[in-house]
Amino acid sequence: MARKPLMAGNWKMNKTIPEAVAMVKELKGKIADVKDVDVLICPTFTAIAALANEAKGSNINIGAQDIFWEAKGAFTGEIAPNMLVDAGCTYVIIGHSERRQYFGETNETVNKKVKAALANGLIPVVCVGETLKEREDDVTFKVIESQIREGLKDLSKEDAAKIVIAYEPVWAIGTGKTATPDQAQEVHAFARKVYGEMYGDACQQVRILYGGSVKPDNVKELMKKEDIDGGLVGGASLKADSFEALVKFNN
Ligand code: 13P
Repeated sequence: MARKPLMAGNWKMNKTIPEAVAMVKELKGKIADVKDVDVLICPTFTAIAALANEAKGSNINIGAQDIFWEAKGAFTGEIAPNMLVDAGCTYVIIGHSERRQYFGETNETVNKKVKAALANGLIPVVCVGETLKEREDDVTFKVIESQIREGLKDLSKEDAAKIVIAYEPVWAIGTGKTATPDQAQEVHAFARKVYGEMYGDACQQVRILYGGSVKPDNVKELMKKEDIDGGLVGGASLKADSFEALVKFNN
């Protein structure tokens, strides 16, 4: 089954509102003719509404970098799913390794957030990935399997097909050390197999992105791999030129 590629920028904690708007303004002109790739930008919470407004009518989707699972109430500092929808999000990144590492995210909280996002019509981009120590200890597959089985459990088949998984080996994030296309493909194929054991055919529809030092000069080789359906990109998504090159990896 042909899966439509998705190129997603995770801006992390970068860009003020004017900086974010300026980049989307520039980017939307550069990629206006792209139809065969879905494009997503995930800015900080404060820039979401302004970017959604700037991106209106373009082929750029806007997403958040996190979500909370409760609908409202006394949860100081958190953002509810319908607030993200209200601000103009259609996607949300969940369980990024930086949130697992620094902010106590677990497979259990990931699962709650995935369900809350889906219940509100948001497409979750769920991050999985092993640390360097886990890779060296030869437990990569075990880690990925439990992140998928626990983080993505109890979804309907329909929802299971809709979500996006992002494989981001922690040792490749922001380090300039990309996984080789073969290393990435091996984990992507494994992730799809595990997902197939959980949700049958939905595993052929689910898009699995690779993340970790994706750059214009390595994107083509990565995207040639059968089970790599796009990229979740940090550093190289922060400039319009390099993100354009990533979106147009096929040209
Ligand atoms: P880099 O592309 O900067 O390595 O970041 C990857 C990432 O964490 C995207 O979510």
